[in-house]
Amino acid sequence: MHLTAISLFSSAGIGDLAFQRLPVKMLVSCELLEDRHQVYQANFPDTHALSGDIWHLWERVVNETQKRLGNSELDILFATPPCQGMSKNGRGKLLQAVREGRKPPLDVRNRLVIPTLKIARTLKPRLIVFENVPEMENTLIEDESGRMVPILDLVREELGEDYDGEAQVVEFADYGVPQRRQRLITVFSRDAGMLALYHRRRTVFPPPTHAQRPSTGRLPWVTVRDVIAHMPPLDAANAATARGEDALHFVPLLDADKYFWVRHTPPEKGAFDNQCVACGFDQNPTHGNFRDAGGINRSSRDTPLCCLRCGKLLPRPWVKDVNGHRLMRGYTSAYKRMSWDLPASALTTNLAYACSDNKLHPEQHRVLSLKEALMLHTITDFDFQFARKDGRKVNTGLIYEIIGESIPPRGLEVMFSAWVKVLSGKSDDVFKSDWATADLPLFQNSTLPLAKSA
Ligand SMILES: C[S@@+](CC[C@H](N)C(=O)[O-])C[C@H]1O[C@@H](n2cnc3c(N)ncnc32)[C@H](O)[C@@H]1O
Repeated sequence: MHLTAISLFSSAGIGDLAFQRLPVKMLVSCELLEDRHQVYQANFPDTHALSGDIWHLWERVVNETQKRLGNSELDILFATPPCQGMSKNGRGKLLQAVREGRKPPLDVRNRLVIPTLKIARTLKPRLIVFENVPEMENTLIEDESGRMVPILDLVREELGEDYDGEAQVVEFADYGVPQRRQRLITVFSRDAGMLALYHRRRTVFPPPTHAQRPSTGRLPWVTVRDVIAHMPPLDAANAATARGEDALHFVPLLDADKYFWVRHTPPEKGAFDNQCVACGFDQNPTHGNFRDAGGINRSSRDTPLCCLRCGKLLPRPWVKDVNGHRLMRGYTSAYKRMSWDLPASALTTNLAYACSDNKLHPEQHRVLSLKEALMLHTITDFDFQFARKDGRKVNTGLIYEIIGESIPPRGLEVMFSAWVKVLSGKSDDVFKSDWATADLPLFQNSTLPLAKSA
């Protein structure tokens, strides 16, 4: 006996891996970009893949789903619309563009919830789950009648009285993922079991399985050390040392300047705070951030680039111009090392760039290898290949995009495994506080490497 699901905005299907070990059949997927959907189709050959714009495809999504359901009802609609128009960074850039008259004030991508709701209203799935950035909670969109409305209010209105639900910001590290990643998960259901659970507990979210400070029923956060400490060392200085035996265990090279900054960055620190390697003076002021009068986060402008004792260049990020060297504009999180004993920082599409936030290996002179990123994103915990249905090669840039725009499937699997039990009419014991240690053998050994070969 299995449940049925459809996946909207499915990309290459990293999020859909959450269903791989659950009794759920993915009937239909929809994704705009053909390259990403090619990878999806190589991994989910039994799913009917509709590639293109959901505004044009929503009726076909409905028809194909109905065709596959026969007389049954759809159990799960899983929708992960793009977040660039909502994410903090995206919004900052958008506001700037709006002020400069370069973009309309509302990002049309935020309106993709509208065709999603058309599908939901027609198919009436028993459970609807949206995944997005926390900013979705505050995002306004223009509905089809031209009214400005908060997205979540529109979801509630359009689904009508049969459905009830909630949105929660979830920290994925609290669900056993070796990575900090906060997402807004919105869950609506018309299923009697789910509604009873919601009305009794005021939440449908299963208790977190992990915590920074473990307590009864919660395991310690899975750390970078737990997952990648055993990987062969690499070094971004040259081609011979930047590549391991595993085809995916490689890192981009760093040029001589960047390598100098990174090589002198101690564990737990960022390169902007590096001290003098010429005379050993270690009291040069470190870099800092402050909030200006308008409440905007700014980085210090007076952080020295030359040693206050010997005058030599410090190994801090610089740019060269006609006047010589000056400190690079940047925040303390750029050129910064991850901690061994915490989950990784969020793996974004920039994960191969040392200058991006917290992207350096905890102690080696490099960023994470692609293999390590796949492990920390929990992709290697599942059966997944970076292959295309048409047999063409998947380029590395696409893999970084796919990772950066997806959420680690292991955390979603924990949540869906609880909801699938309720939808299947099984006990809701999974909502006891110690359910993870009792129910999920997967989480008993959180200190073991999670990966199998990609
Ligand atoms: C946040 S990503 C989804 C991540 C995905 N669930 C995963 O697990 O990897 C959003 C996806 O929506 C797709 N998308 C954007 N606009 C779309 C549209 N108009 N119709 C269908 N898909 C669209 C993007 O190409 C992108 O792959």
